Amino acid sequence: MSDPLTPYGNKPMVTPIVNAVNYEYKDFEVLRRITDGEIDGYTYHRDDNPTVRAVEKKIAALEAAEDCIVCTSGMAACTMVYLTYLKAGENLILFHDTYGAHYKVSLILERLGVEVTWLNADESINLKQYIKANTSMVFLETPTNPLCKVIDIAAARRAADIAGARLVVDNTFATPFHQQPLALGAHLVVHSATKALGGHNDLMAGAVAGPKEDYDKLWFTRQAIGCTLDAYSASLLERGLKTFALRAERMAASAMAVAEYLHTEPLISGLFYPGLNGHAGHLPAKAQMRGGFGGMMAFNVGKTQDDAKRFISGLQTIKHAVSLGSTESLICIPYLTTMLYLPPEKRLEFGVKENTVRLSTGVEPPERIMEDIRQALKKV
Ligand SMILES: Cc1ncc(COP(=O)(O)O)c(C=O)c1O
Repeated sequence: MSDPLTPYGNKPMVTPIVNAVNYEYKDFEVLRRITDGEIDGYTYHRDDNPTVRAVEKKIAALEAAEDCIVCTSGMAACTMVYLTYLKAGENLILFHDTYGAHYKVSLILERLGVEVTWLNADESINLKQYIKANTSMVFLETPTNPLCKVIDIAAARRAADIAGARLVVDNTFATPFHQQPLALGAHLVVHSATKALGGHNDLMAGAVAGPKEDYDKLWFTRQAIGCTLDAYSASLLERGLKTFALRAERMAASAMAVAEYLHTEPLISGLFYPGLNGHAGHLPAKAQMRGGFGGMMAFNVGKTQDDAKRFISGLQTIKHAVSLGSTESLICIPYLTTMLYLPPEKRLEFGVKENTVRLSTGVEPPERIMEDIRQALKKV
C-alpha cells in the first residue's frame, strides 16, 4: 500500500508531526502483532508516537546508544530512571552540585523507602568508600550544575561495580558533542533535552539513552505513568538536533575565550570552567571530553549578592534567565534560581556562594559576549 504522505515516493524532508492520539487497527491480526511486540506499530500516544520515535533514534545515535526513550522533561527522564530501577531498602548515591530538583525527588524517594546518600562532588575520588552492599544506583552529572566540577566517569563505574550498582550520568551540561558517558562506562545517560539538544528555548523534553533492554524497562514506566512527549515538541527537538553540533562547537569555543578573559578580571573570583588549565577538574575533563569543554561556567562576582545582581542587571546581550545550552547566552544566580528547590542553608553547603553566577554561552560572536561582561562589570 502506498503511503498517503508520499504517494509518488518523494518523501518529506522533515518527519511529519503526527498529532494522533489513537490509531485505527487495520484488522485483529495487526492488533495481535503489535501487542505481542512482533511489529513496531502504533496504537495510542501514551505508548508511542512516530514523530517522537524518530527523534529518539537520533538522540540514540548521538550517544552511540542502542536506543533512547524521550519524555516530557529532563526531570521526568530522571524520575523515570529512579522509578524503573530503585526499590525500598536500596541505596541511591547522589552528588550535591546536581540540578536542584533532584533534592525534591529524593524526598519523595525517601518516602518510598529508598535510602539516599548525598556526596560532595569533590569527594567523587573517594566514591568507593561510600558504596554499600545495598547501593543500587549512582547518579551523577559531569560537569556538575552549577559549579562545573568534573567527575571521572570510568572511575565512578569501577566504584559502582563493587556493589553491582547502576551508573547513570546526566550529560546535559557536557552534551554528547563533547562527552559520551556510555562509552566511558555509564549504564544509562540522561538529558534535559530542553537545553542544548533542543537549543532554542522553545520546548521541554527529557531523554534516557542506553541498551535496548533498558529502553524496554523505561518504556514500561513511561507508558504506565504517561509522560510521553507531544509530537509538536518532538518535531521542534528534531529541528534543534540538525544544528546541535554547530551550536555546541561554537558555544564551547566562546566559553573558552570568555573563561580566559574572566581570568584576567580582578572583580571575578572562583572561576569554574573545566577547560582552564588551573581548574581542579581539567585533567579528568581532558581525558573524558573531546572537541572542547562545553558552554557552561560559574564564577563569583565581587563580594556580595548585590554585586552579582548589579552585574547581571547591567548586561545587555547576555539574558538574565534560567536554563542553558540555548542560542542566547543566559546567566543566573543559582542561589536565587536553580537551587531554590533546596532550603537556603543547604544551597551554600558545597561551594556555591550568594554571588556565584552561572553562565551558559550562546552562539553570539564571542567578542560581543566579552564586551557585554566588560561593560557590566563597571557597574559593580
Ligand atoms: C543538568 C540538568 N539536568 C536536568 C535538568 C532538568 O531538566 P528539565 O528542566 O527539562 O526538567 C536540568 C534543568 O535545568 C539540568 O540543568
